[in-house]
Parts: sequence; C-alpha cells; structure tokens
Amino acid sequence: MLLPESGHDRSAWPNYPIESVLAASEQVNWRVEDLIGPGKNLDFSRPFLPESLARVEKLAFLSPQERLALNHIRGHDYLYIFGLVEEFILPFVLDHARPVLHADNTRVRAFLNFAGEEAKHIDLFKRFREDFIRSFGSECGVIGPPEAMAKAILSKHPLAVALVILHIEWMTQRHYLDSVFTDEAIDPQFKSLLMHHWMEESQHAKLDTLMVQTIFEGCSPEERAGSIDGYLEIGGMIDGALTEQVRLDFESLKRKTGREFTPEQARQFFEVQQQANRWTFLGTGMSHKNFMATVELVKPGAAAHLEQIVPMFC
Ligand SMILES: [Fe+2]
Ligand SMILES: [Fe+2]
Repeated sequence: MLLPESGHDRSAWPNYPIESVLAASEQVNWRVEDLIGPGKNLDFSRPFLPESLARVEKLAFLSPQERLALNHIRGHDYLYIFGLVEEFILPFVLDHARPVLHADNTRVRAFLNFAGEEAKHIDLFKRFREDFIRSFGSECGVIGPPEAMAKAILSKHPLAVALVILHIEWMTQRHYLDSVFTDEAIDPQFKSLLMHHWMEESQHAKLDTLMVQTIFEGCSPEERAGSIDGYLEIGGMIDGALTEQVRLDFESLKRKTGREFTPEQARQFFEVQQQANRWTFLGTGMSHKNFMATVELVKPGAAAHLEQIVPMFC
C-alpha cells in the first residue's frame, strides 16, 4: 500500500506478523536462575568467544595460555558490552510502547515482552560478570558508565537510535548463527548464555524492524535522510568507546599475565584487537543483509553508502 502523505510503499517493508512474534517470545521465555548460579560454572580451560570474534590467535608473541586469557577477557567484555547497550535499548523500547498502550493489545504485549527480556538480559550479564570476576582472579577494566553512554545515545534522533538497535539485534543473530552455534571448542556454559540470549533476540530483530517502520512513517523526509548520519554518529561514539576498551584489555592482560610488552608488540595488539572489536560490534551488524535492506527503505542509496564504510570495520 502506498501511503499518500509520505509517498512510501508499505508493502516493501518486511512482513513480521505481530501475533506470531508474540507467540514465539512467549514460547521461548527462560529464567535467569535456570542458566546461571551454583553448579553452573565457567570452564576457564576452554575459550569463551569464537576466534572469528576474538582474533587472539593472530597475536603470535602471546603464549597459548596468554591467548586463552585474552579470549576470556574478550568474552567478559562481550557480555558486559551487551549489558551496556541494553541499558539504552530498554528505556527506548518502553517509550515506544507507551503511545500504543490503548490502541493495539498484541503490539503492547510484544513490546513489553521485548523490554522485559532486555531487563532480564541485563540481569543475566551482571550475574555472569560476578561469576567471571570470582574465578578469573584479576581485575578487568570496562568502559562506561552505562547510564552516561545511554544518555549520550538517547539524545540522538529516535529514528537513528532505532537503527542502531536494529543493527545490534541483527548483529546478535549473526554472531550466534555464523560462529557460536557450530563452535565445539568454546565453554558450554558461556555458549549456553549466548544461545539463550540469541533465542530471545530473534524476536527483537523483528520487533525492532516494526519499530523502525513506525518511527519512519512519522518522520519528515529530512528526518529520514538525516537518520543515516545520526546512525553513523552513534557508530562513531561506539567506535571511540571500543578503542578505549582495547586499551583497558591491554592493561587487563598485563595484570593477568604479569608480562611487559615491547612497543612493537603493543602496536600489534592494538591493531589486531581494535579491528576484532570493530568487526564484532560494528561490521557484523552494519553489513547484515536484513539491516542493509531496512536502511535502504529508510533512505534510498544508504545501503551502498554503508557498503563503502563496512571495510573499515572488518
Ligand atoms: Fe538482549
Ligand atoms: Fe535485544
């Protein structure tokens, strides 16, 4: 259907029936207590993150034990950063649900589930972090605080923020399906957390596509065109934070191993790990085909623009 006031074709958008998204969400639902706690221990003799995301094997100057420790540091950060971004996703989704409170019960229930699941994921990742710190034996520095980053991101235009959330949702799908699912080497407890997160995020990617469409339909042509720049600005903020995280990881590795590194080894560490973080949190989302399809609907030509930028984050 062509909307006369906006001139855009609704039928071009993906069709995710809200009833089936809600039904899938209600079917998946798990409890934090079933996944983490006494008897559910992390196995530090195994890697946590798949190598395609961690990229620790490229650092030949590290011993196998040191590479494993870096993988654990990256695994720790990975779930911390998910918790961090979910701190801004949660209020944003609640704000989106409020205007439709009296209009569409199915939609309200689906979006409240979305928000409730993100709150649960934040809780899960905090408990994971407590378990990790107890066993890892040395401190791991992290970026933040989450509230400050959430405030900075939420100050941007809602369509830009919704696109960033969509990027994160598709990124999560890709990480699990492309690398975690088939990886037999990683710790089963860590893998279980990623699997349960992925199961609920599958619905979020669809709901967020609906949210982007709704916000898009209420925007002027200028706001729609500007949202891609807004998305890239937030991407730049995240990239800056990831650069800081790499610096913190270097310190965490030194603390854990007691090692000192030459300037050349430090340079290699930063080069490899910065790109590893960029690929993990920026490239995998930005280049996801479903994300590209949505940005192209928001602003024709935007997908080609992003394709030019993606190689920076690979
Ligand atoms: Fe989540
Ligand atoms: Fe999510």
